Amino acid sequence: MPNETKATDKFTIIDELARRRGFFWQSNDIYGGVAGFATYGPLGAKLKQNIERKLRELFVNKLGILEIESPIITPAKVFEASGHVDHFKEPMVECLKCKKRFRADHLLQEFAKIDESESEKMGLKELKEAIEKHNIKCSECGGTLGEPKLFLTMFKTTIGPYSQAIGYGRPEAAQGIFVEFRRLYEMAREKLPFGVLQIGHALRNEISPRQGLIRLREFTIVDLEFFFDPEEPDCLLLKDVENEKLHLFLAEAKLRGSEEITDVTVKEALRKGYIKTEWQAFFMACFQKLVEDLGVPAEKQRFIEKLPWERAHYSIQSFDQQFYDERWGWTEVSGHAYRTDYDLKRHMEFSGQDMRVYKEYEKPVEREQLVIKPIMARLGPTFKKDAAAVAKMLSKANAEEIKVSIEKSGHYMLGKYKVLPEHMEIQRQKVVERGRRFIPHVVEPSVGSDRLVYVALEYAYRVKDDRTLLSFPRDIAPIQIGIYPLVSKDGLPEKASELHEMLLDEGFIVDYDEAGSIGRRYARADEIGIPLGITVDYDTLKDNTVTIRDRDSWRQVRSSIEALPELLCKYFKWKINFEDLGKPFKG
Ligand code: ATP
Ligand code: GLY
Repeated sequence: MPNETKATDKFTIIDELARRRGFFWQSNDIYGGVAGFATYGPLGAKLKQNIERKLRELFVNKLGILEIESPIITPAKVFEASGHVDHFKEPMVECLKCKKRFRADHLLQEFAKIDESESEKMGLKELKEAIEKHNIKCSECGGTLGEPKLFLTMFKTTIGPYSQAIGYGRPEAAQGIFVEFRRLYEMAREKLPFGVLQIGHALRNEISPRQGLIRLREFTIVDLEFFFDPEEPDCLLLKDVENEKLHLFLAEAKLRGSEEITDVTVKEALRKGYIKTEWQAFFMACFQKLVEDLGVPAEKQRFIEKLPWERAHYSIQSFDQQFYDERWGWTEVSGHAYRTDYDLKRHMEFSGQDMRVYKEYEKPVEREQLVIKPIMARLGPTFKKDAAAVAKMLSKANAEEIKVSIEKSGHYMLGKYKVLPEHMEIQRQKVVERGRRFIPHVVEPSVGSDRLVYVALEYAYRVKDDRTLLSFPRDIAPIQIGIYPLVSKDGLPEKASELHEMLLDEGFIVDYDEAGSIGRRYARADEIGIPLGITVDYDTLKDNTVTIRDRDSWRQVRSSIEALPELLCKYFKWKINFEDLGKPFKG
């Protein structure tokens, strides 16, 4: 119990701080607000940009992944092809009395303590029975809950003034990449592997979102689709991460009812077959490091493998990266799905566009192949006016399949036509193949920027001498440096303003504050996580030196103004430590 009270206090403080200091708050609150929408204030917007910049630095700048930007509103056809129209649904129940609606499986998790993997498996009938068995009532008015129904969580709209032109708000940015695959492949110089990233808003009409930034109806998604040849994945980057340790909560353990964590290196996880593809393992390691760099130690992270019924319809293996949250327990921060060729294949079927790539062999390969030679003289009397069409279909059909069928049942059904052995010759032929055509496979890491912002904020929160301090890693802090004249007279504000201008010119994000005592100014800066404070005092006027104060340790060093641009640049790139900024100074 004492822990719970403490946790509640901590989260109340974080939520209040986020609103008061301008990180984020519920949108439209002058009209009462609507759950699931958040507005970022100046500090939150900057924090989010800094986190996304880190993602771009890693994936776009260093790994050469292509970044695109595609529309949010998408014609229905795209999501029919992708399977979302059929599958992107959640079970919902309505209170018969006050009409409030809830996610049925979430109610069971919250009020009957039924595990997520159990509740996600339940059909509508089982959900109804479980709600009745556990006597779960409406949490708003105590009313009886009605029949569970499936609710499509995509926002539906019409495009232009045509009611029949249905569009959906995209629930993921991935489809904007898949539909452009042919062009993007050309831009990647027609070589596999290659990746495409998109950062943008996604819309999901969540049934009853109550977790702030963790569950929004409009949020920023980062989808990275990485295309590779399943026969030759060429994961040349694996060696960079193969000795990294991952904490895996495997499906097999879950099925045994155990919470056992398998601690393995990336290399072992692949060798033991825990992770099916090298690229997926590579990205899981990258994301573990990324979340660590945002302040969450590796031991507060894990990758939970999804059970078949928990996986999205397009995935044959999925892991959720989770972080430990004192308020909500283990919470997903990113998803890693092996989407195979599912999406490109579906778009090929629905659009008629060829999504295959051609890969030349190093040396041509000679192969024996079965071919079907239709015998017109026999097809004619059987199929009359359809004989030519049947012959054409026969020569294009799968010869192996025809052979097997004829050996098994003495005939082969070619659509509505029953063809017999006498209608064709099945021959073996030598063919020289110079390459092969196939649909690339895809692994997808996908992360919500808003969840990353929340994670960074929660893990930055500290209390020191009863004061709140946000200890953001220095490269994501919304403001890098605070400039303070010791007092507001005797030429100190003028000197401090000059320094402010100079550091702005150098490209730093700098705040100038001369209001109140220096102690109060430091406290205000610590509360929003400004890593360094620079104070201009009377000595500055004499020798052009300033004190620099560290947010976390409150230690101070003294440095000359001329040296600052270079030192600060190195400091924010993690090339030097605080002590390297100058000589120790007792303020
Ligand atoms: P959850 O199980 O928490 O609903 P999900 O499995 O539906 O998440 P994915 O479909 O894998 O999530 O989406 C990829 C990522 O997008 C998630 O890991 C998460 O970071 C983010 N995300 C998904 N839904 C939301 C949401 N409603 N609000 C904020 N971020 C979200
Ligand atoms: N594209 C990620 C997801 O929808 O899960």
